[in-house]
Amino acid sequence: MRILAIGDIVAPSGREYVYNNLGKIRRKYNIDFCIANGENAASANGITAEIADNLIDRGVDVITMGNHTFATHGAGTLLNENPRIIRPINYPSETEGEGYTVQDLGYTRIAVINALGRVNMTPMDCPFRAVEKALAELEGKADIIVADFHAETTSEKLAFGNYFDGKINIVFGTHTHVQTADERVLPGGTAYITDLGMTGVRDSILGVKKELIEKMYYTRKRVRFDKAEGEVYINGAVFDIDHESGKVNSIERLNFSKTEE
Ligand SMILES: [Fe+2]
Ligand SMILES: [Fe+2]
Repeated sequence: MRILAIGDIVAPSGREYVYNNLGKIRRKYNIDFCIANGENAASANGITAEIADNLIDRGVDVITMGNHTFATHGAGTLLNENPRIIRPINYPSETEGEGYTVQDLGYTRIAVINALGRVNMTPMDCPFRAVEKALAELEGKADIIVADFHAETTSEKLAFGNYFDGKINIVFGTHTHVQTADERVLPGGTAYITDLGMTGVRDSILGVKKELIEKMYYTRKRVRFDKAEGEVYINGAVFDIDHESGKVNSIERLNFSKTEE
C-alpha cells in the first residue's frame, strides 16, 4: 500500500493548495492513505473545525498536530470530537484529544501516533516513554504503525527514529518546515525521514514573509509573523509498504509546486 505524508500545511495558501490538488496527487501516486500535519493550517497557526473538515473531505485521512495544537479557540473541543485529528501524545495526560488513532481500512488497520520533541521546545513529558506506552496499548490493534515526531533538532529525531526502529513502520519528522534529504530504511526496517518540510509558500521563511524574519534576527526584536504570499510547494513523502509484512518497498520525497507537477 502507499501512504502519503504531507509536511506542515501553512496558512490559507498552503491549505488551498491541498484542497485543490490532493485528489489529483492521490490518483497520480496511487495513494491509499494520507496523513497531513495541520498545526499551521489556520491563518495564524493551529486548525479550525472547518479547515479540518475540508482537509478530510479532500482526502486527508488523519491530521497530526504539534506545538501549535491549541493556537485556535475551540481546539480542545475539536480534538475531543474529531477522532481523525490527533495531538502530541506527550502533552499532560488531562489534555483534550488523543495522541494516536487507529483507522481500519478493512484490509489493514493503520495506527498514527503524534509526539513532540523536547529540545528547544516547550517542556513536555518524555516522548520516548509516551510512545512506548502507546505501542503497548496498540498491541494486536494495528497492522501498520506510523509516527509523526514533531521536533526541532535532527539529533532528537534520529534518536526517536532509531529507538523505534523495527517497532514503528514509518517515522517521519515535522516542525522545521524544511525538508531533509535523508529518507531511508533503517536497519530494523523502519522507513524514516527527519523532516517532511512544509506545504506553503516557498519564497518565505517558515511560511512567514521573509523580510519579517530577517528583521527579527537583525534587530533582535519581536515581529508580527505575517504570512508570505507567492507560489506554494507541497512537501511530503510517499511510503510504499507491504501491508501484510510491513516491509518498506520505497520512500519517495515530494517537493514541487503546481507548475512543476
Ligand atoms: Fe509547523
Ligand atoms: Fe511546530
